[in-house]
Amino acid sequence: METYLFRKHIHRLPGKVIHAVPLPKPEVTEGFGARGHIGELCRAAGYKQVLVVTDKTLHELGYEKKISESLEAAGIRYRLFADICSEPTIPVIDAGRQAAMESQAECIIALGGGSVMDSCKIIAAGVKMPHLPSKVLLPKFLLVPGDTLPVIMVPSTAGTGAEITVGAVVTNERGKKGSTVLVGLKVVHVVLDSELTFHAPQSVTAACGIDALSHCIEGVVSDVEENAEDMRMSMEGVRLILQNLPKLTGERGSSLPDEEAIEARGNMCRAALYGGNAINTQLAGYVHAFAHSIGAKYHLPHGQAISLMLLPVLEFQQSACREKYEKMAQYCGVPDFLEAVRALLKECGMDKITSPVKEEDHEELIKMVAADSINYSAPVTMNNRQIKDILEQITK
Ligand SMILES: [Fe+2]
Repeated sequence: METYLFRKHIHRLPGKVIHAVPLPKPEVTEGFGARGHIGELCRAAGYKQVLVVTDKTLHELGYEKKISESLEAAGIRYRLFADICSEPTIPVIDAGRQAAMESQAECIIALGGGSVMDSCKIIAAGVKMPHLPSKVLLPKFLLVPGDTLPVIMVPSTAGTGAEITVGAVVTNERGKKGSTVLVGLKVVHVVLDSELTFHAPQSVTAACGIDALSHCIEGVVSDVEENAEDMRMSMEGVRLILQNLPKLTGERGSSLPDEEAIEARGNMCRAALYGGNAINTQLAGYVHAFAHSIGAKYHLPHGQAISLMLLPVLEFQQSACREKYEKMAQYCGVPDFLEAVRALLKECGMDKITSPVKEEDHEELIKMVAADSINYSAPVTMNNRQIKDILEQITK
């Protein structure tokens, strides 16, 4: 009970703290193949030497070639660092910092998913603090003197929103994943190149899309003081995903870059960016608190854990969020908001995630969910009984 009262008492605090963190205000360039303009962007910014960072898979697919060719055409020197792995650790950050410092990079180009973009945030901060070892760059808040090195984000999936979020998830020296909020993150440009998202299998497109949807919805319903523009972006993100994700998954899904798929993927990229803005300005909520806990306990990928938890949490919050659900239904042109989410999950095959949750783990999960929820500003504060009720719904 004490814990619940504590949670209830402080649940508006994260929303106030996050507003004290300066947010990146990047320019956005969009379009199929847009990464081919990065050379011009760098020349216009006056960079002479940059570091291109990506992961092995994208490197093997040759996805950074369009970037390197454009840099060459613009007369900009670059070094490639393609060693980011799916769960970045301190040695990976160290190697990236070294590559950035040795090459005297003036800007980092981050091509990849959340892992690459988050690693680049810490690398860009680390370059500005060369005297500090990487292991101390991962506190809850990292104050970067001045700003980080400028970063150009080029997301390869439409989901995490990491291209704009001020948080970075990296595994620390104790092997534990943690999120660090960067105060002074300088993302100068976001390049939304829908061509990059074509390589993903339908299941990944769907999982990333539902993750982005959850960011936008949790942003709309959050208890953070309302800002009209942030609210508009989050609502627009919900609308874009409800309308476009079905075109890319299930029977209607096309992996060919035809006109409809290019437009739908471009819209998903924009929605994911709006989702990232929602995380920065409105914060996530219990969908994420449950998904993080279940993901960590059973190693369930984030998008799947989100898909598993989305409806149970949204249904639980229904009475507190009725007005906002109606507003979203109206904005998106659907008769019933929850029904539209249910239909979308079904249409993109994310309604049948096998739940790994076991009865004997409930007590541990309740603690994990309660602890994680303190980072957010959800519309209701759940007590342990309510958390348990939701866990029971998804227990085998
Ligand atoms: Fe998420």
